[in-house]
Amino acid sequence: MATFTKLCVTFSILVSLLACFTNAQLSPNFYGRTCPTLQSIVRSEMTKAINNEARIGASILRLFFHDCFVNGCDGSILLDDTATFTGEKNAGPNKNSARGFEIIDTIKTSVEASCNATVSCADILALATRDGIALLGGPSWIVPLGRRDARTASQSAANSQIPGPSSDLATLTKMFQNKGLTLNDLTVLSGAHTIGQAECQFFRTRIYNETNIDTNFATSRKTNCPVSGGDTNLAPLDSLTPTTFDNNYYNDLIANKGLLHSDQVLFNGVGSQVSLVRTYSRNSIAFKRDFAAAMVKMSRISPLTGTNGEIRKNCRLVN
Ligand code: HEM
Ligand SMILES: *[C@@H]1O[C@H](CO)[C@@H](O)[C@H](O)[C@H]1NC(C)=O
Ligand SMILES: *[C@@H]1O[C@H](CO)[C@@H](O)[C@H](O)[C@H]1NC(C)=O
Repeated sequence: MATFTKLCVTFSILVSLLACFTNAQLSPNFYGRTCPTLQSIVRSEMTKAINNEARIGASILRLFFHDCFVNGCDGSILLDDTATFTGEKNAGPNKNSARGFEIIDTIKTSVEASCNATVSCADILALATRDGIALLGGPSWIVPLGRRDARTASQSAANSQIPGPSSDLATLTKMFQNKGLTLNDLTVLSGAHTIGQAECQFFRTRIYNETNIDTNFATSRKTNCPVSGGDTNLAPLDSLTPTTFDNNYYNDLIANKGLLHSDQVLFNGVGSQVSLVRTYSRNSIAFKRDFAAAMVKMSRISPLTGTNGEIRKNCRLVN
């Protein structure tokens, strides 16, 4: 770290200050010469995918979050289990709920057709995530690129480092802190739940047993989430607009209509996140601006760069 800083200071005097305040090895123009059509390919595939099913934007976003939280944004979540390889797809937070892998395959095939063996699956996932959010009405941002793909995966890290829906605020804060993310980052990134769906098994206890929940909201969710059975029945994470990337998630929290326990804890008592929830519920522009910045920050968690990792040929398999 100290060496890096010194090197960076020396480097910055010679060349560019900017590179030293950001992750020195990721750059928006990484594929500028090697794959100039990359961004338009991803955008056009994501447009098709979302026109086919709006939820896919949410599913891809969740994949990216789960990828970045396990070691780093390195495409490890995309690897299939085989007879000799244990991936992350069957870890608790992913099993029977992580989805969107086929879309990443489709984009990868399309990218390979134009730029063979050049673009990582980790970068494709980062771009697809950004485009999905933008296409659903959310913010856009410039994606730093140059991540390489992991040759390994960790089911145990996926089980222990991705937060679960019954987590309390202290646990969520700690798990985000472990990834270099603050309570503010947690509050704004949880706004991702303005899109997408959750299974009954993840919010059953909340709607039947918790008291900080709007009564009519709980009653209405119970109709499709019985006390037993129906574990995989879906409900929207945002009560009004689950296919629009807006700030209604925060209005829900203030109305005690957060679907997951881990959502409602952000507006349950004291802490700086309470006023941030209020700010975002009133100010959609501030939410979108801060969300975009936090996504760039999350996208920089421990990437593999340089000669580390590889450029996978097939996102599901190590080369
Ligand atoms: C703060 C801790 C978080 C917890 C405990 C949590 C938990 C969950 C759970 C249980 C689901 C439902 C999955 C299912 O039923 O299949 C879900 C869905 C989702 N999560 Fe989170 N999440 C958290 C943070 C985040 C973050 C930071 C993002 C992205 C930046 C995110 C993006 C999503 C999206 C978009 C969905 C909907 C996926 C779909 O419809 O396929 N979540 N989350
Ligand atoms: C793609 O690149 C790989 C390795 O660089 C090479 O072996 C393969 O023949 C190429 N395929 C196509 C279709 O160009
Ligand atoms: C609600 O709480 C009771 C008592 O702790 C427990 O037995 C029951 O399983 C809980 N119900 C749900 C749906 O979580």
